[in-house]
Amino acid sequence: MDGNGRWAKRRGLTRVEGHRQGVQAARKIVNAAREIGIPVLTLYTFSKENWNRPQQEVQALMGLLEHYLEEVHKEIEEHDIRVQAIGEMEDLPAPVQQSLRRLIDRTRSKKGMLVNLALSYGGRAEIVRAASRLLEDFKQNRISPKEITPDLFSSYLYTQGLPDPDLLIRTGGDFRISNFLLWQMAYTEIVVTQVLWPDFRKRHFIRCLLDYQKRERRFGGVQEEA
Ligand code: IPE
Ligand code: MG
Repeated sequence: MDGNGRWAKRRGLTRVEGHRQGVQAARKIVNAAREIGIPVLTLYTFSKENWNRPQQEVQALMGLLEHYLEEVHKEIEEHDIRVQAIGEMEDLPAPVQQSLRRLIDRTRSKKGMLVNLALSYGGRAEIVRAASRLLEDFKQNRISPKEITPDLFSSYLYTQGLPDPDLLIRTGGDFRISNFLLWQMAYTEIVVTQVLWPDFRKRHFIRCLLDYQKRERRFGGVQEEA
């Protein structure tokens, strides 16, 4: 979800105002995804690297996040949505952790769409954490080196049990992965749109999905004969 700052700057507003509009856009896109029938939607909400932003911006973002997590309870539960998070939750301020945990607990048994929030998330940090947990299991004699396969390694990641993403949409026009789901995106289709995140709506989302539908996914294989 990129482009909040640029959106605000173009309007002579503060970056924080851009983030505020970004939250509203996220809310609308969650709803749109549910209506379209997307089973899993992961929102790259705050990266590990985002902690390096000016303290005032980080604080404002955390405030908005806490507010959002409280505000969406009702509509999330009504719409049968399950919420999960990936990333280093312990980095988040205590009130944000509390709101998040409450939302995750209260929606645990929901059967509709899964909304996965990436918070204090970094792809490399996730892989290193997986390696470290794997070594711990080796030390405890729970696994042997021969058993280590890509599937087994995947089960040590935050995304354990989730399918790899089919599509990555990046708003704001930059052609970068920015340390997002590095392992999981091995065969993900990427769509970059110039639309800035606060302006991103269901119609833009659908355009990205139509673009995705035109792709021929081979996963390293060859095109099948008709
Ligand atoms: C994305 O918008 C929001 C977060 C990373 C939290 P940016 O704040 O990165 O917006 P630009 O890239 O400066 O426009
Ligand atoms: Mg940015």
